[in-house]
Amino acid sequence: MNEAMIEMHHVFKTYPSQISALSDITLEILPGEFAFIVGPSGSGKSTLLRILFCAERPTSGEVVVHGIHITQPDFKKIYQLRRTMGIVSQDFKLLRDRTVNENVAFALEITGHIREEAKSKASEILRRVGLEEREGDSILALSAGEQQRVAIARALVNSPPLLLADEPTGNLDARMTLDVMEIFTDLHQKGTTIVFATQFTGLIKRYSYRAIRLLDGRKADSHKVEEVKATG
Ligand SMILES: Nc1ncnc2c1ncn2[C@@H]1O[C@H](COP(=O)(O)OP(=O)(O)OP(=O)(O)O)[C@@H](O)[C@H]1O
Ligand SMILES: [Mg+2]
Repeated sequence: MNEAMIEMHHVFKTYPSQISALSDITLEILPGEFAFIVGPSGSGKSTLLRILFCAERPTSGEVVVHGIHITQPDFKKIYQLRRTMGIVSQDFKLLRDRTVNENVAFALEITGHIREEAKSKASEILRRVGLEEREGDSILALSAGEQQRVAIARALVNSPPLLLADEPTGNLDARMTLDVMEIFTDLHQKGTTIVFATQFTGLIKRYSYRAIRLLDGRKADSHKVEEVKATG
């Protein structure tokens, strides 16, 4: 049997403000799958991803990623787990006092790469997202779309087996969106598991990957790709 990469069992998340962001989510994502998490603004997509990358704890329910129960936190295990994840946050989470190259290289340095090697690998991936001319610039000098591409480069530079991306094309124009989707498709073909949250139903229609639809924090009954296409 193929062990799931991600399992969520009856997951609820209520914020201290009493807002119920997720309600009884049960799902499974297999290794190598490309899964869109789709739903309108406020439907719980970011909350679901933040739980997967351990930035948020569920109020109740069980979450298992890579065989590790992240609802029973063992910091050492969670640290190891996060090293297997590429994370693109909706708000980028870049180091604003560092350059573009430093932001990407930093992800390698903390996993033990020496600085020169990290810098050159960072350059390589920045070329891939079209930012080779901006490497020495401060993050503050970049547009939102450029910052988003730095965040994508940083998530990919370690070649993680699991990529968790929250609206990674939300600030990109049509051409850049296609370029980034091509990178993600290529990674998917090489076996990377990808979870991609978006409110853009256009993307889901264009790429026939699985789509899990959220509505007001609940998983909609059906999440077959065809039905999302029909209703999206
Ligand atoms: N830190 C927080 N504290 C309190 N409420 C929150 C917090 N984060 C999210 N929420 C609420 O939880 C609900 C789900 O939010 P979430 O950010 O997960 O939605 P989303 O689907 O990612 O939306 P968007 O498409 O706008 O990014 C919303 O009602 C939101 O206001
Ligand atoms: Mg969001």
